Amino acid sequence: MSLEENLNQLEATAANRITRSETIPELDEARRALLGKKGELTLLLRGMGSVPPAERPRAGQLVNETRARLEALLDERQSTLARREQDALLAAETIDVTLPAPEAAFGRRHPIMQTWDDIVRIFSNLGYSVVEGPEVETHWYNFDALNIGPDHPARDERDSLFVGDSLVMRTETSAVQIRTMENREPPVQIIAPGRVYRRDAVDRTHSAIFHQVEGLLVSEGVTFGDLKGTLSTFLQQLFDEAPGSGGLKTRFRPHFFPFTEPSAEFDVFFKGDWLELGGCGMVHPKVLETVGYDSEKYTGFAFGFGIERMTMIKFDIDDLRLFYDNDWRFLEQF
Ligand code: DAH
Repeated sequence: MSLEENLNQLEATAANRITRSETIPELDEARRALLGKKGELTLLLRGMGSVPPAERPRAGQLVNETRARLEALLDERQSTLARREQDALLAAETIDVTLPAPEAAFGRRHPIMQTWDDIVRIFSNLGYSVVEGPEVETHWYNFDALNIGPDHPARDERDSLFVGDSLVMRTETSAVQIRTMENREPPVQIIAPGRVYRRDAVDRTHSAIFHQVEGLLVSEGVTFGDLKGTLSTFLQQLFDEAPGSGGLKTRFRPHFFPFTEPSAEFDVFFKGDWLELGGCGMVHPKVLETVGYDSEKYTGFAFGFGIERMTMIKFDIDDLRLFYDNDWRFLEQF
């Protein structure tokens, strides 16, 4: 058989083998068997030693042409197989968007924050805006400007948490009243929710860190009647759905606060008992003068209460420590 016939035969078998390769490893194997160091074409080329010198250039050319055609065939098959693999992969990974989704675990708002949100919503509807103040306060804002004298118990190391000589972890959100009035002219109508700190031993109803809301309204002609009406409306709305609160009863008892005159505490009737909720009163003229307001022209009321206490009533919880344990079994009930 001439070289040419040999080549033709080799090419025919090779082409067959290539097009029948069904996987890339199989094709790689074919490539090696044909064109590798010990491949069929290579061996054929070696056999050229017996070709007469005059015919060698043409023989060489024939071998190279065959080689080129086989390589082209291999490459083409290679890309066909690669594409097929890719398609199979894509088909296997197709996402069926109509399948039901796995159940996701949703967190929920902490009961304290739910009450916080309720309070903000109710007062927003009554025309109040929300302001915030720092939790580390100066003695001026936390005590002096609020007319809290040097002998008041809150000044004592045993009751409040002091930071160095001139700062204190704020003991009440009332400090925000002063900061607000300093920067605005009346009418002022704000609430200030936030964290407060006291040196209290922790028990069922006490925590060293808790949340308060301060409220303040200063304008012309504000009366104690406005204060009672505002707080009663607020409490009615907040406890609308509290267990056993049907037709909520509220009451105001005379009390003393340095920053209000007259002052009162307000209670709600809950499960057969009067429960104290917070303090309130008409803003003391001294406080108004301290921030530069004309106390002859303006009057106002202020109030403050704890969010924990309100949440305990709203959800019928009898131990406030549950709020801070972050026990999911407790939290998921709200
Ligand atoms: N700051 C008082 C407290 O922590 C609550 C309070 C009473 C706030 C009377 C007021 C107020 O604004 O007028 O017990």
